[in-house]
Amino acid sequence: MSTPTFSSSAPIGVFDSGIGGLSVLRALRRELPHERFIYLADSGHAPYGEKGDAFVIVRSLAIARHLREHHAIKALVIACNTATAAAIEPLRAALPELPMVGVEPALKPAALTSQTHHVGVLATRGTTLSSRFTQLMARQPAHTRFSVQACDGLAHAIEQSTEEPLPAAQSTAKIEALCARYINAMGLFGTENGAIDTLVLGCTHYVFAQAQLQALIGPRVRIIETGAAVARQTRRILEVQALHTDANTLAAPLTLYTTGALGALEAAAERWLDLPARDCAAIALPGAAASLQCK
Ligand code: DGL
Repeated sequence: MSTPTFSSSAPIGVFDSGIGGLSVLRALRRELPHERFIYLADSGHAPYGEKGDAFVIVRSLAIARHLREHHAIKALVIACNTATAAAIEPLRAALPELPMVGVEPALKPAALTSQTHHVGVLATRGTTLSSRFTQLMARQPAHTRFSVQACDGLAHAIEQSTEEPLPAAQSTAKIEALCARYINAMGLFGTENGAIDTLVLGCTHYVFAQAQLQALIGPRVRIIETGAAVARQTRRILEVQALHTDANTLAAPLTLYTTGALGALEAAAERWLDLPARDCAAIALPGAAASLQCK
């Protein structure tokens, strides 16, 4: 076992382009109830998925450095498939001591459990075009077919669903319409020969559209997301590095920051994690090259 270079009582940093990573944070808090977490939603710069690698790398580096320098985090969870695909290598190079866990679409568990050997994958354009994703696909069994769909606009619509003043019915209708467009473009879902019987959510935002997706593909198609697996992997990494803590017997404190609208984060935290608004705060990240243009 290696000697820890960080304090086990320090918090774990978690970030996403926005509120999607709250689906990972939810799983992390279940798996590691005594750990402290600092969550950073980069909603002021979301979505990442259609902005190109250079933008995502700059943002991810700025966020990771901020969490390390201002919150002394002992580990970093990149709760974003798009940021993992574009930036995990630059992040590891910039902060080589910091234990890191990324998120990748769960292709392997899907391939192992699919009975029709046909798996659907929903992800951002950035993830689907990444070399990491291409390599991940290439490692899957040859007899499994993957139908991959980039879902432009869906993460953005989910971000907007917690923002005022868009009426709830209008934002729900927008999410449903996008889900229907992308599911219809993928082909037949079901358990019959050749149909897609397993759907991988390759973007942490899409977990918050799971009910709409399940309604479209039917109850017999299995949806796989990665929150619980990422949480278990985080526990393993902390244990190996002797950074895990069970010492805190009180509910571990949590702070959520956003570079976007505070009200939107408060609404999302309350709706999906049952957390009070007082846990949320707005933040600006200096030097984060917010003006870097999309590709
Ligand atoms: N939640 C992110 C992911 O898992 C990205 C959404 C976006 O900003 O496009 O890929």
